Amino acid sequence: MFVRDKILKILKEADGYVSGERISGMLGISRAAVWKHIKALRADGYEILSVTNKGYRLCSEPENILSDRLSAALCTDHIGRNIVYMNKVDSTNEEAKRRADMPDGTLFIAEQQESGKGRLGRLWESPRGGGIWMSLLLRPDIPLGRVSEITLAAGLAVCRAVGCGAMIKWPNDIVIGSRKICGILTEMSAEPDTGTINYVVCGMGINVNIESFPDDLKAKATSLLIETGERHSRDEIAARVLNEFEPVYELLCAEGFGAIREEYARMCVTLGREVRVIYRKNETIGKAADIDENGTLLVDTENGRIPVSSGEVSVRGMYGYA
Ligand code: BTN
Repeated sequence: MFVRDKILKILKEADGYVSGERISGMLGISRAAVWKHIKALRADGYEILSVTNKGYRLCSEPENILSDRLSAALCTDHIGRNIVYMNKVDSTNEEAKRRADMPDGTLFIAEQQESGKGRLGRLWESPRGGGIWMSLLLRPDIPLGRVSEITLAAGLAVCRAVGCGAMIKWPNDIVIGSRKICGILTEMSAEPDTGTINYVVCGMGINVNIESFPDDLKAKATSLLIETGERHSRDEIAARVLNEFEPVYELLCAEGFGAIREEYARMCVTLGREVRVIYRKNETIGKAADIDENGTLLVDTENGRIPVSSGEVSVRGMYGYA
């Protein structure tokens, strides 16, 4: 057992406070070392009180996503069958890329991300215990040009798993009402000459038990806790997402986006709404009319129907586009 775990055990079994001196005596380490471990435990989310002349007392433990509970709730063949569980990481997408030699379908999941990555170089707030911060390492057997469809499949899976009226804001935001509950960031490595995909990392950030957002995000972001007034079990939701993702992903790889298009379109809040898109470096207003067999958004503008396959699309009435 690691010293840190031994200290935890002592604190858990204690009836009240335990002095640093007592712990150092029990474990044969210095009081400075005890203090160092207490500091590290606090950084990991353990609430430990320290009172002069009394010592330390464990008040609460972090709520962790237990990877064994997650595994037990999985009914997939290969998605999430191998789990890299992390207490803290810079970004699960980055970790997946660093360890891209791991098996297809490996799940990288962390309690907290210190530099969670959003789209367009933005930062993704990923507080400890507040959500599901996870990335899948995938090796799809599809042409390079179809990789963006994986993001659409992930969006559909999250939507199904979260319920609560969640909808998809094309292409990859999951929203409840007009606020975002989940973002998806897909990255890939490929050989430009041959078009061979080395790997795809599909990262999903789902706000589950976040109580409130900073003022600048309040109007744009929400969580399951805010929407339902209840805390939710992150391991159960993570397992549901993976259980939903596997069949959608397999269908998509085998038959293309067309096979899931109808359901995606039904869940897509963007369709029928006024949108503002950046098209050929110009801003255009139009009405989101349809999604084609490749997942491209078709927007009716005064210059006719235009295909929008990437870039920013703002939907009127959402995230501050009034
Ligand atoms: C967005 O901007 O909407 C995409 C956000 C994606 C966040 C997730 S959290 C897990 C994974 N790791 C990251 O660093 N980012 C993605």
